[in-house]
Amino acid sequence: MAAVGSAVGLGNIWRFPYEAGQNGGGAFLLVYLICVFILGIPTLMAEMTLGRMAKTNSVEAFRRMSSHPVFSRIGYLGVFSCLLILGFYTVVAGWTFQYMWESVSGGIEGMTSEQFSQSFVEFSSSPFQPIFWTVLMFLITHLIIIGGVQKGIERASKFMMPLLFVLLVVLCGNSLTLDGAREGLSFLFKPDFSAINSSVVLSAMGQAFFSLSLGAGVMITYASYFEKDVNLPRTVTTVSLLDTSVALLAGVVIFPAVFTFGIEPTQGPNLVFVTLPNIFAQLPWGSVWSFFFFLLLALASITSLISLHQVVTAYVEEEFRLSNRKSALVVSCLAAVLAVFASLSLGVMNDVQIAGMCLFDLLDYVTAKIMMPLGSLLLCVFMGWRLDKSELINEVTNHGTLRWRLAKVWVVALKYVIPILITLVFVNELGLFKL
Ligand code: TRP
Repeated sequence: MAAVGSAVGLGNIWRFPYEAGQNGGGAFLLVYLICVFILGIPTLMAEMTLGRMAKTNSVEAFRRMSSHPVFSRIGYLGVFSCLLILGFYTVVAGWTFQYMWESVSGGIEGMTSEQFSQSFVEFSSSPFQPIFWTVLMFLITHLIIIGGVQKGIERASKFMMPLLFVLLVVLCGNSLTLDGAREGLSFLFKPDFSAINSSVVLSAMGQAFFSLSLGAGVMITYASYFEKDVNLPRTVTTVSLLDTSVALLAGVVIFPAVFTFGIEPTQGPNLVFVTLPNIFAQLPWGSVWSFFFFLLLALASITSLISLHQVVTAYVEEEFRLSNRKSALVVSCLAAVLAVFASLSLGVMNDVQIAGMCLFDLLDYVTAKIMMPLGSLLLCVFMGWRLDKSELINEVTNHGTLRWRLAKVWVVALKYVIPILITLVFVNELGLFKL
């Protein structure tokens, strides 16, 4: 359930709809689902297998399993990815607080669609409020990491995550009754094959890795706590099914509303935050729905933030022989500085652009579309080529006590299919080669 907590978060509810909106809807969804099945699931299996074999944090796991100069260092890439993700993910997580606040202070009643958009842009580009919420998010994550309220969070998320699922199902039902339902659903589910190009494929692949928390060592670290009798294939199936269904539900909630309220589906990171208030505003007791939705979304983000923070903290702790408290503080401060700049880059610092992107967009792009696929590629090559095949199969079948018919197919996927496909997507996007 902790792995589900890491996987399910803003990636599903915020990032999936906006990427789908920008990349042609149905075409994106199709490629995304293919990526989840062919690339994501076997990679998740690989991370969990490695974690349970090595029984240690992600940097140490590679070091312990190999003395090779490159492969023994793959873990560092993951730690760096987590730090960069913390730098923008926390900003978005902070936005959920603003929406909770607005729900209780009566901000959503009687507003039009344009007003919602305008108020979001004003808020997210302001130099103060979003930073205040981001820092609050860091504070909460920090306190959980240093052990204060871990138990409480565990207990809370055990019933709040299923509640988020139920709420999404209810909101889906509501969205299906909207005037734009037909248009929204056909946008999301009807693939326009001519819309598939190299950037759609790269985005879909990045989304698959991002959503399943892959390529950054998170699942390696979590699996290092697994008992010997945990059924890995079943765990992997549960995590990926839940994660993918939450993304699909979010899509079904958002797109009918996008077309009903005349919102531009291609607008990017703003999409969900300008669409949801319209949905709540037309519901009876709208503010109450809105408050609970953003509360649950904040919680789902926190369980993801914990996983990101934990990977970096565990590394700092062991590498620099610092106490847990000190390492967590170093990580929180570093990531918070990055997040403050990421937040400012949506407003007053928007003219500072790198490769045509502001810092916020750059962090998102570099992690999801480059670092996580690269991390996953290296992991699969490492597992497939450097580790002993029979040892891998032994581990996934709990030393022969479980039967997993796909074990051999999985090894082939690690050795050939995944490395080749990821390389092709990269090369294709670079334009060196056209598929
Ligand atoms: N998967 C999470 C989400 O969808 C985000 C996340 C948590 C993540 N840990 C990660 C993404 C590690 C990449 C790597 O919201």
